[in-house]
Amino acid sequence: MLEHDVLVVGAGLAGMQAALHAARQGASVAILTKVHPVRSHSNAAQGGINAAMEEDDPWEDHAYDTVKGSDYLGDQDAIEVLCSEAPETIIELEHMGVIFNRGSRGQIDMRAFGGQARKRTCYIADITGQVLLHVIYEQLMKAGTTVYEEWFVTSLVRQNDAVCGVVAMDLRSGELHLIKAKAVVLCTGGAGRVYEPSSNALICTGDGYAQAYRVGAPLMDMEMVQYHPTTLPGNGALMTEGARGEGAFLINADGERFMQRYAPNMMELASRDVVSRAEQTEINEGRDINGCVLLDVRHLDRNIILQKLSQIRELGLEYEGVDIIEEPCPVRPGMHYMMGGIKTDIEGATFVKGLYSAGEAACVSVHGGNRLGANSLLDTLVFGKRAGTSAVLYADAISTPEIPESRLQQDQELINGILARDGESGERAAELRLTMGQTMHQDVGVFRNQRGLEKAKNIVAELKERCQNVGVDDKGKVFNTDLLFALEVGLMLDVAEAIVASALFRTESRGAHYRTDYPDRNDDDWLKHTLVYARLSGRAGDGGPRLEALPVTITQWQPARRTY
Ligand code: FUM
Repeated sequence: MLEHDVLVVGAGLAGMQAALHAARQGASVAILTKVHPVRSHSNAAQGGINAAMEEDDPWEDHAYDTVKGSDYLGDQDAIEVLCSEAPETIIELEHMGVIFNRGSRGQIDMRAFGGQARKRTCYIADITGQVLLHVIYEQLMKAGTTVYEEWFVTSLVRQNDAVCGVVAMDLRSGELHLIKAKAVVLCTGGAGRVYEPSSNALICTGDGYAQAYRVGAPLMDMEMVQYHPTTLPGNGALMTEGARGEGAFLINADGERFMQRYAPNMMELASRDVVSRAEQTEINEGRDINGCVLLDVRHLDRNIILQKLSQIRELGLEYEGVDIIEEPCPVRPGMHYMMGGIKTDIEGATFVKGLYSAGEAACVSVHGGNRLGANSLLDTLVFGKRAGTSAVLYADAISTPEIPESRLQQDQELINGILARDGESGERAAELRLTMGQTMHQDVGVFRNQRGLEKAKNIVAELKERCQNVGVDDKGKVFNTDLLFALEVGLMLDVAEAIVASALFRTESRGAHYRTDYPDRNDDDWLKHTLVYARLSGRAGDGGPRLEALPVTITQWQPARRTY
């Protein structure tokens, strides 16, 4: 049986950072990922990473902008950690070899990003995540960490009250393996693909959320789903907020910079929830261009576009046939990020012993109701490091668990059942996935209400039933992506269930969760987190998930009216 002190699942920035810092303490560490590490979705983060680096920019100002951005739902103790540790994180990246864009004095340059009172976003053109990912991967290789590359976790192993390993499939051979670990750190990223369309890679199927949920760990604030204001209409690809940071306008069908009616001070650089709602209102009220508004950079210096926004120029050309230097590009709000996730403390510990989490998979919670652009890369690194470090401390204090080999049989039987059906006799994963994604976008998107949420709840419940009968046409063992998609869709439906249940529970509007039937923020009743637990027995027809509320941690910033 394979065995490690710490097993990190997911090799984006949070996962690699967790593994790296765990390895630096001398623990036996492995990282398991369903794609090659440098194909992880952190690659897609374009615009930058926030840090208060200037002498006249105290980290408390960054923290305040983050608290306000979160619509006061972020836990302020965690936000203080995030923002106070940001400058040292940037320096650490520089020492590893990340070459940030420089300003005229040779200092790290900063660009403006939404919801922040000043320029505070360090960047590398519009490929920041990609550069960070490659540099940290070099460090991981240097540390000699074991990488289970193109492996997929089918379930977490929980014995008694603790997680002590995983069952995972080597996608190259189709074989299942038990991997024993004293601590497991879930850094599996987000669940963008529970929605259709999404700015997220196809791999963002929320595996970690569902696996944690299935072993009894609560998920927190799952109703807080971020729609990014500038995604392409065709495939949902991201057009970085960095464009607006460099001065881009948003205009409607009348050529009007409509943000002046929604956020007169910050205009296009208001927080994402505010800009996405404004765009969706323009679209719903008919001031759209084929269901879109326009991102306009024509007034910017051509060299700025070529040097700092070259990737989005390519994306516009490739997918919309638009050269942003010459023409405005159609964009619309698109599902981008999960503020909610596996509930952790500031050391990455979940409510289940032996189980840790960081990055988008986790909810620590630094983003609350709405994440500021460029705070997610920071979150992955600050809390990835903490989760990796505390997982080692936990592992050092316990003895190696025993897991019976028979534990693997459970997952093998599930897989055998799927392989025994085909797409004709069973359900096709692609159909389930599309119906789920379109339902979530339609009824659990920028605007929600009780009726739509109830409808989504019923559709998701019905899809879960149908998923029991999912089949595949490919019966092979080697890289059976048909089987992988069938397993993923089951996980995604659990995530959809958790999102819808949480959205029904929160009867107010806050951050990205806007209920047209409860349009106001209600601090008296709802200045609190939602926790959603799976019912672990009798899953079908059991009345669905269980919900609880948890107080928000307030340190220095009292809730106030939020305007931009
Ligand atoms: O717009 C962007 O570049 C996205 C950044 C982020 O989500 O942090």
